[in-house]
Amino acid sequence: MRIDSLCENLVEFDAVDDCPSAMALAENLSPNGNIAIIGGGSNILFSDQYQGVLVHPAILGWDVRLRENGSAEVVIGAGVDLDSIVANLSYSGFWGMENLSGIPGTVGGAAVQNAGAYGVEFGDLVKSVKVWNCIEKKFDQLDREELNYGYRFSTFKLPENYGKYVVLEVAIEVSKRYNPQLSYGPLKKFSESNNLTPVEIRDKIIQIRDSKLPKVDEVGSAGSYFKNPVLSKNDWGEFCNMVIGKGISIESVPHFLTPDNSIKVPAAWLIEKCGWKGKKLGNAGVWHNQPLILVNANGKATSCDIKMLENAIVSDVKEQFGIELKPEVICF
Ligand code: EPU
Repeated sequence: MRIDSLCENLVEFDAVDDCPSAMALAENLSPNGNIAIIGGGSNILFSDQYQGVLVHPAILGWDVRLRENGSAEVVIGAGVDLDSIVANLSYSGFWGMENLSGIPGTVGGAAVQNAGAYGVEFGDLVKSVKVWNCIEKKFDQLDREELNYGYRFSTFKLPENYGKYVVLEVAIEVSKRYNPQLSYGPLKKFSESNNLTPVEIRDKIIQIRDSKLPKVDEVGSAGSYFKNPVLSKNDWGEFCNMVIGKGISIESVPHFLTPDNSIKVPAAWLIEKCGWKGKKLGNAGVWHNQPLILVNANGKATSCDIKMLENAIVSDVKEQFGIELKPEVICF
């Protein structure tokens, strides 16, 4: 968000074995128990002063374990920049990560948030995650079945798991077997081709991102600020009544069926229909090319400016369409 913020203490460690002592230090420094684990911080809106200790696992490096069938297990440190490993594996000819090109943040953050874009979610690739269990004070491994990956969701996001785990390493599977994921609209036109490379898809994804999203080093944002709402059949019915009541035809409403037969409606469409696209409120703004993205419009926004804009949008969308948008961004 490019918003200045201070924390009382920051604890950083760069080796898996140093996690227990780093966490013990964090606990000593924070008698009130306010400890937050952060990766790149790119999906977080910090208040101006965080009253607690931040812990940053800065474990770098990765280990590629090739198998005979052309696939590979890659064990990646939680502190690795996500796009670095995406680039590295794509240039090495491995399929799997290329659609995730250009996403800011770390591998640890992606494993918690289940970062996703252009038809692929990070969780699709994850085999297991090595963690420190802060309650039982022991190292543990969570396998794919225990991680419960869903849309912007994982086991780590369950309320009972807040503060329980520190993600240390993530094992993913990629493969040299030809496997482009071309379900996202602008990628569909490549499906005729049978000699694409992961790097070609990566380049295309970066081109799409550049055309829609603000450049992270120029305009502060946290990417999508809200999650796309997923409606049950009932809620969809009520939503349709409100849409028709506004004189909008249902055929014109973009929507996507999820694997469990719920209906995902783009928050960007709802925000645009409420008139917020490209608008500003104080120092915060709604991105002109993608209204799901709230930005630090003039570089002077505080977390309060962003929160005010969030609240105004949430209440407008609720009033106009009966849907309560939920932030994807985490607020500290
Ligand atoms: N739309 C509008 N107006 C706009 C832009 C989009 O009405 O100005 C509607 C269109 O109907 C469009 C639909 O919204 O088809 C979806 O837009 P887009 O493809 O840009 O994706 P999104 O659903 O808004 C999600 C992710 C993005 C990811 C893209 C591409 C979430 C919360 N966001 O956005 O992830 O890059 O899909 O897969 O699911 C992020 O999480 O930070 C992020 C950027």
